[in-house]
Amino acid sequence: MQKIGVVGAGYFGKLHAAKYAEIGRGRLVAVCDIDRERAMGCAAAHGATPVFDYHDLFGKVDAVSIVVPTNAHFDIAREFLRQGIHVLLEKPISSTLAEADELIRIAKDKRVVFQVGHLERYNPAVHSLTKVLRRPRFIECQRISPFKLRGTDINVVLDLMIHDIDLVLNIVKSPVAQIDAIGVPVLSEAEDIANARIRFADGCVATITASRVSWKTERTMRIFQPDAYIVLDLHASKLAVMRRVIGGGEGTLPELKQEEQLFQPVDNLKREIESFMACIASGDEPLVTATDARRALDAALQISQQLQAWRDTLSEPAVAAAR
Ligand SMILES: NC(=O)c1ccc[n+]([C@@H]2O[C@H](COP(=O)([O-])OP(=O)(O)OC[C@H]3O[C@@H](n4cnc5c(N)ncnc54)[C@H](O)[C@@H]3O)[C@@H](O)[C@H]2O)c1
Repeated sequence: MQKIGVVGAGYFGKLHAAKYAEIGRGRLVAVCDIDRERAMGCAAAHGATPVFDYHDLFGKVDAVSIVVPTNAHFDIAREFLRQGIHVLLEKPISSTLAEADELIRIAKDKRVVFQVGHLERYNPAVHSLTKVLRRPRFIECQRISPFKLRGTDINVVLDLMIHDIDLVLNIVKSPVAQIDAIGVPVLSEAEDIANARIRFADGCVATITASRVSWKTERTMRIFQPDAYIVLDLHASKLAVMRRVIGGGEGTLPELKQEEQLFQPVDNLKREIESFMACIASGDEPLVTATDARRALDAALQISQQLQAWRDTLSEPAVAAAR
């Protein structure tokens, strides 16, 4: 049985630990956090050992979830990969592309499973989407949620939008041709709301809005393609397809057929961790590879650069001059 460790016992790390304990495929042996109370509380809940320095896990675990703030992803993941330990690293993969490349290289050298936590891919509605997709031409994503202090060490693009970036890049099989983006810090120092327009080489356009200063929670994706309009509600795990039916005479409205699928509520994180465990056992490639995560990071960093450039044009002197 694989011995598992969880590094980071904050909001999401506690959930990782609970899923490992629930799945029972491996044995959660240790929970690590520099915050001793968090490590002890989470470890005690699952009969694991609390650890306060992640180096103490080397030689004691076969696989880890790394669920720490983004600026610590690279250093910690690099050390576990170098030790030949399988890694499930939370998103975004790292802070820079050079760091992502180094992690990918080490994982390859060490022949370990290296999976990144883009958990929306484990949503059954997303899985079913592949069956109805045909040359998407326009995609509109909306991911909004109320403000929380967690995650504000990074902008909303790296915090939330990166989920939709990953989904869109996985749907549109064409290189990114152009990105335009704007964003505004509202309650934190970094941008809390952002909108990006991504144009692909095949002509498809995606506009993605992410906000963490909303009153409500919404995660939707609308896809327009020559024969259909598809609405994906990621929160409710619902997929609706409005398809044009060939027929009808001249001068009549096109006939539309509506199909709707509501999926049983599933635990995407549990599915993601089950899949990680299965890949360790089989040696198969994860559904979300580190290369996918690097691709999402690349687009997210380009969007972030545009936000910075836009912010510079709105700098105080420029704003004062405009008044
Ligand atoms: N996939 C998702 O939907 C999703 C959702 C939430 C968070 N996340 C990701 O999970 C990660 C953690 O987010 P969170 O909301 O749980 O943050 P959090 O602040 O609640 O928890 C982070 C924990 O990491 C600990 N930590 C920091 N440095 C450490 C180190 N060197 N060694 C051990 N522990 C250390 C902190 O003490 C803290 O307890 C982030 O990367 C975030 O992007 C992903």
